[in-house]
Amino acid sequence: MPGVARSGDDPVAAVAQTYRTFARQEARGRSAAYEALAESVAGDATLVNFIASLPPARRQPNLLFAAARYLLGTPPGIGPLRELVRQSRPELTQLMLTRRTQTNEPARCAVLLPALAQLPEPLALVEVGASAGLNLLADRYSYDYAGYRLAGRDPDAPTLRCQPRGPVPLPPRVPAVAWRAGLDLNPLDVTSDEDVRWLSCLVWPGEGDRADRLAAAVAAARRDPPEVRRGDLLTGLPALAAQAPADATLVVYHTSVLYQVAADQREHFIRTVRGLGAAWLSSEAPGIVPGTAAPARDGQTCVLARDGRPIGCADSHGTWLQWRP
Ligand SMILES: C[S@@+](CC[C@H](N)C(=O)[O-])C[C@H]1O[C@@H](n2cnc3c(N)ncnc32)[C@H](O)[C@@H]1O
Repeated sequence: MPGVARSGDDPVAAVAQTYRTFARQEARGRSAAYEALAESVAGDATLVNFIASLPPARRQPNLLFAAARYLLGTPPGIGPLRELVRQSRPELTQLMLTRRTQTNEPARCAVLLPALAQLPEPLALVEVGASAGLNLLADRYSYDYAGYRLAGRDPDAPTLRCQPRGPVPLPPRVPAVAWRAGLDLNPLDVTSDEDVRWLSCLVWPGEGDRADRLAAAVAAARRDPPEVRRGDLLTGLPALAAQAPADATLVVYHTSVLYQVAADQREHFIRTVRGLGAAWLSSEAPGIVPGTAAPARDGQTCVLARDGRPIGCADSHGTWLQWRP
């Protein structure tokens, strides 16, 4: 799992290595501020020891930086982060133990849309690992694929911009959705200011228009909030899927979720999805869904798959999409 120190290693050395790897492989090219911050953390014995004192699953850079930002009200630099650990260690620890990395990126809908539009309408959407459910609203957003525009059902919802790389089967219109529901270990509530603030703290500084897009998607979601139920994708999916209307095409999908699930449990989940007779879409890092390993162009490429077969690849934040010939 990216960003997590391996258990069994010397925890202090493993934390330093995790932050260095995060700086060089994840933050580089996306957030100069977090690249520099992660490198500084890796070289700071006090910070590394603090992080190593947390349970292994709570040591991720994303979690620390978002929690610090939440408490400081601004993206942390190394100085304020040191101060925070010295002066507000209990508050920071509490936040890192109770919050999760649940970045909800609505632009991933632009990657899913061409695949969704190939299915018979209307659709019944079930998203696992939905976070706040912003990717359940694929029919409400508008789209701009390098000048090819599609109007969504909510004229005030944001327009998601995605660059097609080569031919992509762009649909004539946004597909109709008859029903939608999400499932998450810890659903975030778009109507809660605290949850929305946490979501905004998970966006890295320097990532262009992501913060504005998130705010606009949240505003759209608040007009008619998507239902996201609390549950584990390993156990809760069949009962949720059973509630979908029988006269709609059931689609189960997930984006950037299964890396948070242990590899042997992913197999269990995939057997469950296959047993539902649903269309199954995934956009995950290469190899996370077995059979979708592909030469990664960079650490930010995801493989788009239908029923476990790769059909394209895309930026993990939905800024570009390439279809498989
Ligand atoms: C990185 S976020 C991605 C959220 C959303 N899919 C997106 O692309 O914007 C991963 C989400 O998966 C959820 N998750 C992780 N493991 C899960 C599980 N076993 N069952 C349900 N949800 C899970 C997390 O709580 C989190 O909200």
